[in-house]
Amino acid sequence: MSSVARQTDGDRPRGIRRNMEQADFKLSRSEFDSLSRAVYDHCGINLHDGKRELVEARLGKHIRQGGYQSAGAFIESVLNDRNGETFVRLIDTLSTNLTSFFREADHFTYLVREFLPRLIRDRKSSDQKRLRCWSAGCSSGEEPYTLGIVLQEAIPDLKQWDARILATDISTRVLERAERGVYDAARISGVPPQLRTRYFATNRYDGHVFFDALPSLRSLIAFRRLNLMETWPFSGPFDFIFCRNVMIYFDKPTQQALVNRFHSVLSPGGLLFTGHSESLTGVRHPFEYVRPTIYRKA
Ligand SMILES: C[S@@+](CC[C@H](N)C(=O)[O-])C[C@H]1O[C@@H](n2cnc3c(N)ncnc32)[C@H](O)[C@@H]1O
Repeated sequence: MSSVARQTDGDRPRGIRRNMEQADFKLSRSEFDSLSRAVYDHCGINLHDGKRELVEARLGKHIRQGGYQSAGAFIESVLNDRNGETFVRLIDTLSTNLTSFFREADHFTYLVREFLPRLIRDRKSSDQKRLRCWSAGCSSGEEPYTLGIVLQEAIPDLKQWDARILATDISTRVLERAERGVYDAARISGVPPQLRTRYFATNRYDGHVFFDALPSLRSLIAFRRLNLMETWPFSGPFDFIFCRNVMIYFDKPTQQALVNRFHSVLSPGGLLFTGHSESLTGVRHPFEYVRPTIYRKA
């Protein structure tokens, strides 16, 4: 038995062994601590005590389905397999992937009204029609597809540009959905109807209507798995980066390191967009403040 599996928490043994089929799955103190330390070290996600119930709710089902004998056995396999499949599946289970098309719409308005017109003018005068952007923590694809729509709408001759959207996430599960690019009626509802017809094909699967991103939209986007805590296999420069509703899961030192790395891969004048519930207050960084949640590299 591993040191992790041997640890117990006072008089309460490892919950899962006695409780595999019950919904109220519990982790012992030491199990929770081992797991949260491993997750923090691997991907910066801060599973503090306030997240304990959420972790237990999500892990119970995952452990049952994975056929583990106990929570201890599961944690042991996670600790021995930080870069492998077990860890990927753990992160898939724990990460929050909530997203939507045109989420926090004022960011797209800012791009269309302020940033892109200037960029188009500058690039046209220098005859360098290059545009690079990054959706860091893209979840199931709604954010990069929205960016693709916005770029095509704002730049009529985009086909003549060397334009690419990099879309990355740590979770293989959401990336598969993003690459598939198929959304049901509820998910697509954030896309105005005239844009829906322009950028999606309507199809029926099993009697339900679905919307498939058209090749012209897909071809702008490269989906890649990337743990933001690891080395990035590219150096930019990007014209803008969306990292929204991702840093909320990180502590301040992790946010600070990440924001400074974003700065290093942006072009001068490039923008960083963060989520509206995220603040860089207390984070030391070299960005100029543009407006809440928008920062510029000087
Ligand atoms: C709530 S979603 C945000 C999606 C989108 N950016 C938005 O604002 O709608 C957060 C995403 O961050 C990803 N994530 C969390 N930690 C990560 C890490 N260390 N590296 C890369 N992606 C990470 C999660 O897998 C999840 O898909």
